Amino acid sequence: MSPAAEKDYAVQMRGISKYFGAFCALNNVQLSVEKGSIHALLGENGAGKSTLMNILYGLYQADTGEIIINGQRENIKNPNTAIKLGIGMVHQHFMLVEPFTVTQNIMLGMEKTRFGGIMDEAATRVEVQELSQRYGLYIDPDAKVEDISVGMQQRVEILKALYRGAEILILDEPTAVLTPQEIGELIHIMRKLAEDGKTIIIITHKLGEIKQSADYCTIIRRGVYIDTVDVQQVDETQLASMMVGREVKLTVQKEAAHPGPAVLDIQDLTVEDSRGIDRVRKLSLQVHAGEILGIAGIDGNGQKELIEAIMNMVPAKTGKILVQGKEIQNHAPADTLDAGVSTIPEDRHKHGLVLDFTVAENFVIENFKKVPYSSRGILNLKEIRSHADELIEKFDVRPAGCAPNPVRGLSGGNQQKLIIAREVDNNPHVLIAVQPTRGLDVGAIEYVHKALIEARDQGKAVLLVSLELDEIMDVSDRIAVIYNGTIVDILEAAGADENHIGLLMAGGKKE
Ligand SMILES: Nc1ncnc2c1ncn2[C@@H]1O[C@H](COP(=O)(O)OP(=O)(O)O)[C@@H](O)[C@H]1O
Ligand SMILES: [Mg+2]
Repeated sequence: MSPAAEKDYAVQMRGISKYFGAFCALNNVQLSVEKGSIHALLGENGAGKSTLMNILYGLYQADTGEIIINGQRENIKNPNTAIKLGIGMVHQHFMLVEPFTVTQNIMLGMEKTRFGGIMDEAATRVEVQELSQRYGLYIDPDAKVEDISVGMQQRVEILKALYRGAEILILDEPTAVLTPQEIGELIHIMRKLAEDGKTIIIITHKLGEIKQSADYCTIIRRGVYIDTVDVQQVDETQLASMMVGREVKLTVQKEAAHPGPAVLDIQDLTVEDSRGIDRVRKLSLQVHAGEILGIAGIDGNGQKELIEAIMNMVPAKTGKILVQGKEIQNHAPADTLDAGVSTIPEDRHKHGLVLDFTVAENFVIENFKKVPYSSRGILNLKEIRSHADELIEKFDVRPAGCAPNPVRGLSGGNQQKLIIAREVDNNPHVLIAVQPTRGLDVGAIEYVHKALIEARDQGKAVLLVSLELDEIMDVSDRIAVIYNGTIVDILEAAGADENHIGLLMAGGKKE
């Protein structure tokens, strides 16, 4: 007997390959999960994690390979087979019926019947409550799903799987939708389940969560198996490097800034919202060439309205916005762009990209009317294409050669790279980045931060708005704290004290 066979494995997947058309999503991947363990599956967006788990759950069929459940080779044709084998899965997007109660959702599809087929909701309700007590999965069995939080909906999905007898529970990016507190609770629940002998496979690309919760971690990269490690034996930097395939710096590397003159000059700006309430109040701020100025603040303190006023999406009520000495306030949005201000917007899907357009088209979305992309009203498709190919290569937008593909098919990280490539390529005087790394994995975050620092080093004035204080502290040269629509303090980032900034953000007085 080989040593591997002596261990008690709940799941073994061997030599799994999966093609979508000609695209190889998984290439000879293996996974061995010990019974009663919490096993993380780590990989960048698009690595093939969901695909591998969808194969285990019978949603997809592998093209090659075998699956062994509790020592027995199985042919998992569909989720019903998987459920019979004790496999449960909670998907990234929940599959609950909103107007139904928690109990009704859990019994859906497998109603307990008594006397000629009448559903016994009361019996299910009792059983759900037992399960919920046992694992700390507290929920209200009678609440309607549409009335409960996303974190609660996730508990319903977990209970649903347990109610169906799941001994092996797959959670696909369960923490992506949760608040920090809910994440803590979920980790606690996973531990309780594992203590009770259940096997848990958790998909994630968050390294901290793996360190906190998992016993083992299998890393896959672009469809290829990299390694399986004992989580206690590795640190976050090592996990990141295995995931991305190169050295990853989890801290930002940059030289000191060499700021020049103020390029963006905001003077006594007041902006009101649609209800006439002042959201930005007499705000003044200068961003210099060759510096990154970070705006730290709690969401809703005027950041959104400030940026919208600079972009001329909303009017300035009073005050001035100058770019290189020229007033741009209360002009058309195109005038902001023409003055040399480029923006990496907060909502990529609403403002940054047209998802059904191709990558090449999205690269020229602001400039397609200009030479060389068109002349006398006719698009020059060859120019548009070669421009796209150049930027795809230079900014490493994946997959290579994606110019003719619709943007919808790119991963979030690559959509963001596209926007950054486009905005930096405009060669602006001012580059505004709003929450530029939200939802991205470490490899892409490192890339975005590097791109901002490069823009700075080319002499651009970079204005960074982020709700992540860590990001503000790591990337900025100066930090402006916004509270209640005004800048309450501006500090040098080097040596700034996080607690002090946190206090200012919450409206505390500066000492
Ligand atoms: N049904 C499908 N058809 C075509 N391509 C797919 C399909 N599902 C996934 N892919 C592709 O397979 C790759 C892996 O996807 P996925 O398993 O969802 O990645 P992950 O979960 O690691 O982010 C991606 O490039 C994705 O675009
Ligand atoms: Mg996935």
